[in-house]
Amino acid sequence: MKFHVLTLFPDMVMQGLMTSITGRAVQQKKIDIDAVNIRDYTQDKHGRVDDYPYGGGAGMLMQAQPVYDACQSVMEKIPQNKKKRVIYVTPQGIPFTQAKARELAAQDELLLLCGHYEGIDERVLEEVVTDYISIGDYVLTGGELAAMVIVDAVARLVPGVLGNEQSALTESFHGELLEHPQYSRPEVWHDRKVPEILMSGHHANIEKWRREQSVIRTAKNRPDLLEKAELTEKEKKLAEEVQKEVKKSL
Ligand code: ADE
Repeated sequence: MKFHVLTLFPDMVMQGLMTSITGRAVQQKKIDIDAVNIRDYTQDKHGRVDDYPYGGGAGMLMQAQPVYDACQSVMEKIPQNKKKRVIYVTPQGIPFTQAKARELAAQDELLLLCGHYEGIDERVLEEVVTDYISIGDYVLTGGELAAMVIVDAVARLVPGVLGNEQSALTESFHGELLEHPQYSRPEVWHDRKVPEILMSGHHANIEKWRREQSVIRTAKNRPDLLEKAELTEKEKKLAEEVQKEVKKSL
């Protein structure tokens, strides 16, 4: 899978993504990441890529021409038969979720367009963008961090990127519940003991305990996720009790 990040700050993107697991995945050729500097495509003799918005208002806008040409230069190199999407990262987009990450992981090539200043001229977005995605209800100074979040979340779903394939399968959100707590050595730390059940070696009971912990955590921190989760009657009761306790403590 190949990621092309179109940005005014290619170094920021490459420094962030060429370390750790995504960096290793590039070295192992499981994925490829390339940062395209939009400024390299401007036809302005002073290298400008921004201008004032028509109708007035605060700030500057990225102009259509350099964004379009940067995008075209990437598109020209992608063979016709490849599955591709052009994503504009923006607080005005649809919320990024694990389901969206899975959908994008089925593509061959992703272009991620990062805005700056007050955004990008709408006309070029209309011509090139297939998906508008927001990583959350807050405003960042530019799209780079949002693009990096998306590359990271999608890359880890590409086969072979995670050393242990299992961890991509069992983590949070696959069962619509948050993950249970985890413990490692030592058995006692700061007078806190690892829950007895985890030392029992009884796998069925451990799984039961973990599932309960997931329900409790989700009820406490993300009750909105419970609506979609498939819960047994017993688990529904447990979730209700937890939510009652939470309400009491407010
Ligand atoms: N650009 C600035 N803020 C953003 C956000 N919350 N999500 C995606 N792109 C952004």
